[in-house]
Amino acid sequence: MEKILVTGATGHLGGAVIENLLKKIAPNQISVITRNEEKRKDFASKGLNAFLGNYDDVASLENAMQGVDAVLLISAGDQGDRMQEHKNVVDAAKKTGLKSIAYTSRCLRDRTTLVNKLMQEHFETEDYIIASGL
Ligand SMILES: NC(=O)c1ccc[n+]([C@@H]2O[C@H](COP(=O)([O-])OP(=O)(O)OC[C@H]3O[C@@H](n4cnc5c(N)ncnc54)[C@H](OP(=O)(O)O)[C@@H]3O)[C@@H](O)[C@H]2O)c1
Repeated sequence: MEKILVTGATGHLGGAVIENLLKKIAPNQISVITRNEEKRKDFASKGLNAFLGNYDDVASLENAMQGVDAVLLISAGDQGDRMQEHKNVVDAAKKTGLKSIAYTSRCLRDRTTLVNKLMQEHFETEDYIIASGL
C-alpha cells in the first residue's frame, strides 16, 4: 500500500490536493505535516497520519516520512529561508529512503526568459531534487 506525505496540507493548494487524494486513496495512505496542533488533530480525526512538522525542523520531517513512499513538497512561502526549507525536505526524503518526490514548481522551459528571486528558487529546488537522485 503506497503512502504519500503532503506538505502545506493546511493551505489553499494543499487542502485541494488532500480533498482530491481522498477520492482516490484511503486516509491512512496520506500523511500530512502542520505546525498547528489543532489542525493536526483535525486531520488525525479524519484518519490521516498527521504530524507536527516544520520545514525548519529536520527531525520533524524525518519523523513524518517514516513508512512513506513519496512526498509532495508544496513550495514554502517567503517568510523564512525558502531554499533551505526545500533542501531540508529533500534531504529528509533521501535520508528516510523515500522513492520519489514531487515539487510544485512553475512551468517555464527557458530559465533565462524570466528571472526573479522566486523563479530562481524554483529552478534551484528542481536542480537540488535532480541532484538528490530522487
Ligand atoms: N494557491 C495558489 O493558487 C498558488 C499558486 C501558485 C503557487 N502557489 C505557491 O504554493 C505555496 C502554497 O500556497 P497556498 O496558497 O496553499 O499557501 P497557504 O494557504 O498560505 O498555505 C501555506 C502552507 O504552508 C505551510 N507552511 C508554511 N510555513 C511552513 C513551515 N515553516 N513548515 C511547514 N509548513 C509550513 C502551512 O502549514 P501550517 O501553517 O499548517 O504549518 C500551510 O499549509 C506557496 O509557496 C505559493 O506561493 C500557490
